[in-house]
Amino acid sequence: MKYFQEIIFACALLSLSIISSSATCGFESCPELNKDLINVHLIAHSHDDVGWLKTVDQYYYGTETKINKIRVQRIIDTVIQELLKNPKRRFIQVEILFFSKWYNDQSEDLKLAVKKLVENGQLEFAGGGWTMNDEATTHYQGVIDQFNVGLRFLRDTFGSCGRPNIGWQVDSFGHSREIASIFAQMGYSGEFFTRIDFMDRIARNNELNLEVIWQSSESLSNSDIFAGAPHDHYSEPRGFCFDVLCDFDPIIDGNRFDNNVKIKVDGFLNHSTWLSQWFRSNHVMISMGEDFRFQNAEINFENMDKLIKYVNARQTEGSRINLLYSTPACYLKSLHQLEQTWPNKTQDFFPYSSDSHSYWAGFFTSRPTQKRFIRDGNHFLQVVKQLSTFANLTRTQHTSVLDILRRTMGLMQHHDAITGTERQAVASDYDRLLTDALVGAEANARDALRILTNLTTGEFTSCLNLNISVCALTQEKADNLVVTLYNPLTHTSTQYVRVPVKNESYVIVDEKGREVTYELVPVPSEVLALRHRSKITQHELVFKASVEKIASFYIRILPSTKSSSTKKRNPTYQRPSDDNELVIQNSLIKLVFDNRTGKLKTVAMNGVTENIEQTFGIYKGFRGDNQETKNRSSGAYAFRPDGDIKELSDKIDLTVYNGERVQEVHQHVNEWISQVIRLYDGVNRVEFEWLVGPIPVNDNCSKEIVTRFKSDISSNGVFYTDSNGREMLERKRNEREDFDPDLTEKVSGNYYPVTTRICIQDEKKRMTLLNDRAQGGSSLEDGMLELMIHRRLLSDDWFGVSEPLNETQFGIGLVARGKVFLVLNNATVKATRAERLNQKEIHLPFWKFFSKSNSVASVLPIKLPDFTDLPQPINLLTLEPYSSDEILLRFEHVMDHTESNVLSFNIRTIFDALAGKEIRETTLDGNLPLSEMKRLKFHHDVDGTDPSKVEYFTASHKPLTANASMANSVFNVTLYPMQIRTFIIKR
Ligand SMILES: *[C@@H]1O[C@H](CO)[C@@H](O)[C@H](O)[C@H]1NC(C)=O
Ligand SMILES: *[C@@H]1O[C@H](CO)[C@@H](O)[C@H](O)[C@H]1NC(C)=O
Ligand SMILES: [Zn+2]
Repeated sequence: MKYFQEIIFACALLSLSIISSSATCGFESCPELNKDLINVHLIAHSHDDVGWLKTVDQYYYGTETKINKIRVQRIIDTVIQELLKNPKRRFIQVEILFFSKWYNDQSEDLKLAVKKLVENGQLEFAGGGWTMNDEATTHYQGVIDQFNVGLRFLRDTFGSCGRPNIGWQVDSFGHSREIASIFAQMGYSGEFFTRIDFMDRIARNNELNLEVIWQSSESLSNSDIFAGAPHDHYSEPRGFCFDVLCDFDPIIDGNRFDNNVKIKVDGFLNHSTWLSQWFRSNHVMISMGEDFRFQNAEINFENMDKLIKYVNARQTEGSRINLLYSTPACYLKSLHQLEQTWPNKTQDFFPYSSDSHSYWAGFFTSRPTQKRFIRDGNHFLQVVKQLSTFANLTRTQHTSVLDILRRTMGLMQHHDAITGTERQAVASDYDRLLTDALVGAEANARDALRILTNLTTGEFTSCLNLNISVCALTQEKADNLVVTLYNPLTHTSTQYVRVPVKNESYVIVDEKGREVTYELVPVPSEVLALRHRSKITQHELVFKASVEKIASFYIRILPSTKSSSTKKRNPTYQRPSDDNELVIQNSLIKLVFDNRTGKLKTVAMNGVTENIEQTFGIYKGFRGDNQETKNRSSGAYAFRPDGDIKELSDKIDLTVYNGERVQEVHQHVNEWISQVIRLYDGVNRVEFEWLVGPIPVNDNCSKEIVTRFKSDISSNGVFYTDSNGREMLERKRNEREDFDPDLTEKVSGNYYPVTTRICIQDEKKRMTLLNDRAQGGSSLEDGMLELMIHRRLLSDDWFGVSEPLNETQFGIGLVARGKVFLVLNNATVKATRAERLNQKEIHLPFWKFFSKSNSVASVLPIKLPDFTDLPQPINLLTLEPYSSDEILLRFEHVMDHTESNVLSFNIRTIFDALAGKEIRETTLDGNLPLSEMKRLKFHHDVDGTDPSKVEYFTASHKPLTANASMANSVFNVTLYPMQIRTFIIKR
């Protein structure tokens, strides 16, 4: 065998050197097909999680062998060597995090050889994100960023041949419409995935509907994208895993007693023929891979070579199966060239259930503090990117620190990171990585602010524990302190700022030296009682700030002799009187509480009054002991309640803080649940800041905690949830778009991911909840909304992680804190528009930086671009340094087609303020000139177009390219509802 291989290797090198002169990659490199046969496209791939049972580095280097022997480094090593041996062999690489790590460690010679493999299409990238992101719990901003990072590496390293043509989301747990829309906006032609509801799969198999044209947006034109699911899973056919991880026999040919070619070929022919009946065309795609396959690619490829040889040899005996090394993009191209039409898909693929007791709806909420931490990471990433742009931070050290934060945030989007479905040790490693990346990037923010303000020696420290009212810099003494606020939003924003302090008298002044009114609000006793929290800081200074981009406030302690400052409002605690009702209100909102129960009873705002009762409830999580359907436990992935919800009905103790501009009702619900219900003057939403944990489990019961809002709104079984923070989807209780669901699990079968927003309405009224991290949610009864906020489970759900989701910290169950915002309104378009604007403020509030100084800092008169003139629904989604002399920016229209119209504005002044010389437009990810975008268009079953016509989508508008010498009118930008446009400015 050795001799034979060397010949192949020599031939491979020879053919490579010929090919390299003119690259044929992507669609150009697809194998020849036989029209009269069933073409079976073999897809060699390895699904490599960037952390799950082992950490990202343990997987890469192969340590922790007692967990498993997986070593991704060796996968890539051996795959590359095997591709070099035979130019027909192909492989798709998906996770760019692993690939770039590997590539950067190789010799120049090997790098050159890899480039040739990419240029001749043997090594093709699919997906192309830094990771294979989750689709339920991610926010679109994070997803777009992580594609930018992965695709950027591919472009810089391999040029246009590095660019994928398809999305490859085989393992994410259900599929969102917004992710499909992002693929379409990046110029991809299709998306392949696996995990769809088992009932949906049965229906699609029977109706030949596994492959669809997905209309990925209700607002965007040209949003159709091909999407395909396999007949069952993404693993290789049973018996055909040749990897060292598997127990199946390799193919033995030649004159040997053990020759098994006939058995193997018969098996594969049968499988291929059987499989082809579930698809519309004479093409089928067979996955020849699985999780972490190709540990030793030599065995895999040697056996696939034999399989192809012997299966195709049967054609002379009349076999209709034609086996070939291919890629998903080539498979898609084959379909595109057929006279074939496809069914329509408009909603999404949530929730995913794998059997009648397994709705994968637990992970919508699993690890709530990690989900929130990732939002903080995104928040700071956007702040640092903007600041770095304004201050021209282009030094290597700044760029590398920013890259680490970008990549770490990319990592966190992984479908076993943000989902909370990783082992505890891996979760801790993610926390470590994100903490290090955030702390590292503080240096960039500090250096930028030292350039942009006159506080040239300011510390500009970030406090990552503000959610529990702790900040090291203010803890001992908040005297001679400067708080610098950075507003990452496009428009000037007015918000309330909270700074944890001791109970003293303070003076706060703004940059112009004007004294600012503040209130000193007590920190809830339950927060003070947190075991690990120092008790020093018991209050928060609360003041109102209006900030365009950057503003500073100076805080000092007033000597006790002068402690009668008029600016301080410090009302004392008051207990509710014996009346039946307790009322708190400001100029916009009135809340009525029932004194007998302590619960919220009525909300009046926006001219609407509604009975809204808010309660907490506990689902007991089912605890089974094996993976049999009926014994399936509630776990990290699955949500399976055991019996009905138990709503907490004990009388809630109330404490009221009734300030001038801030009103708070502190609810003590039980030993481990408390809440602050809060109003701010001028802010048109009610804040519910919950504190849950440690969830007691000494009764051996798993528990999942929800917050519920019950109203009299006749919602008629309908509710709405967002898709990754963008468009809303209509949900109908107990129904799905395309199939009849198995509703053995009535509760979790109606759970959906809520990334930012969930609402119900009737003809008159609309009730909306906005959240601060992804959660599972539903409307299980008319008039009611619920969000799951925390869970602690004592059994594993047998989907692989092999650990119960039993988070602890400081030796006790994990305590989580977060916010849910309620908006009650008329059921009008005005209401949904207001929600969009609220959502932006909740997603990216002011970031607070703290410095010690004895005078107020002011912003230097450096000309920052002025975004405030942009129309209200236009948001600057991204502003970041792209290369040493380039800036990437994205504008988005945040309203949908029901809420707003097309808007136009001119970006000349922004371009000038960014010192632009040239500007060009790219696809959403930022890496392909929009003018070069060309994606495959497929024909619908019913739209009456001629299916024999081969069609493409190109840019739906004329891409903007301009330079500084051109007329201002060239810089006009038009945005349709929900449109995002991406530009690179060269300075
Ligand atoms: C696909 O379905 C949606 C919703 O039913 C419909 O609005 C749209 O026109 C359909 N598209 C085609 C091409 O049939
Ligand atoms: C950043 O660089 C641009 C172009 O060189 C220049 O116009 C601008 O003043 C610089 N800004 C700062 C804060 O240095
Ligand atoms: Zn995975």
